Amino acid sequence: MTATSTSPEITIEFHKSPVPDADRIKALETPGFGKIFTDHMVLARWTADKGWHDAKVTPRRPLELDPASAVLHYAQEIFEGMKAYKADDGRILLFRPEENARRFAKSAARMAMPEVPEDLFLKAVEELVRVDKNWIPSGDASLYLRPFMFANEAFLGVRPAQEYIFCIIASPVGAYFKGGAKAVSLWVETTYTRAAAGGTGAAKCGGNYAASLVAQAEAAKKDCDQVVFLDAAEHRWVEELGGMNVFFVMNDGSVVTPPLGGTILPGITRASVIVLAKEKGLRIEERPYSFEEWQADAASGKLVEAFACGTAAVLAGIGLVRHAGGEFKVGDGQTGKLTTDLRQQLVSLQKGITNDERGWTRRVL
Ligand SMILES: Cc1ncc(COP(=O)(O)O)c(C=O)c1O
Repeated sequence: MTATSTSPEITIEFHKSPVPDADRIKALETPGFGKIFTDHMVLARWTADKGWHDAKVTPRRPLELDPASAVLHYAQEIFEGMKAYKADDGRILLFRPEENARRFAKSAARMAMPEVPEDLFLKAVEELVRVDKNWIPSGDASLYLRPFMFANEAFLGVRPAQEYIFCIIASPVGAYFKGGAKAVSLWVETTYTRAAAGGTGAAKCGGNYAASLVAQAEAAKKDCDQVVFLDAAEHRWVEELGGMNVFFVMNDGSVVTPPLGGTILPGITRASVIVLAKEKGLRIEERPYSFEEWQADAASGKLVEAFACGTAAVLAGIGLVRHAGGEFKVGDGQTGKLTTDLRQQLVSLQKGITNDERGWTRRVL
């Protein structure tokens, strides 16, 4: 489905009774993750005859959907995850939002949905951030932005829908993992897989996450923070976590990460880590890495660190790996030095502390 060439203007309708200042300030003290929401949202509509129209920032409220809406039956839904950061001098920054816009367009194409033009996506994100600027926490916390699109045509035939809603909601967030900078534990899933060749693994669609939940629940039962998936064909090659990409740091200066072959999400943090690690003189190997090799490298001491990365958690060291046949530690089981350095470097860029030579941040206010 093609994008309409012109993007509509975004109108703004302010909330008449926003959350009172004192309540908002209290909520921002311990935001948690994805539990509290700002006063406004973005809404825009797409129909086959009109393209994108009726784009607005509007008071956040429940959506009314026809029970025959296609998304409720055939899961035509995609989303993005990004953050707005408050710098110490008060500037409000986004980190590589164009990449989110592009990935959203690619996810849309894979799910036979209309693309949201990049300028509409970016304008909508920025307008919402400006309108809800008082909801952006300072310090280590940030404002998580969740753009998403779904099919709302009331029709039960199985074909790409003819009507869609693009929406953005925002949620102030603190640390993703309760343990803070503590290394996380992983459960290696050998029964359920996340994505197969030719499937939707590279798209950020809700269905991928629905398919991952039983494995994530299994990880929780094994007292692990996250699940790590292996490939669907051989159950042998490491793919990614439920919501993060994964890197392995070797004692010879090489850093291994699974390649983007269509079954894993092309993470923006992953792409940024690759650039930063190369700048440090490390040798990045985007290549298949088997669970067997992982175990052998951990046992021999070749593997010195491993980390997971994504917008929500930035970088998280991997300390313990559990699997059906036992468990092993990575390095000394703590967050490693490169993981800590790269995390710091990324956070400093995102928060506008260090000079942004690469043009990765975009100032909203
Ligand atoms: C399955 C999956 N892999 C990787 C990532 C990391 O992507 P990014 O760094 O763009 O947040 C995410 C998070 O969005 C994810 O859900």
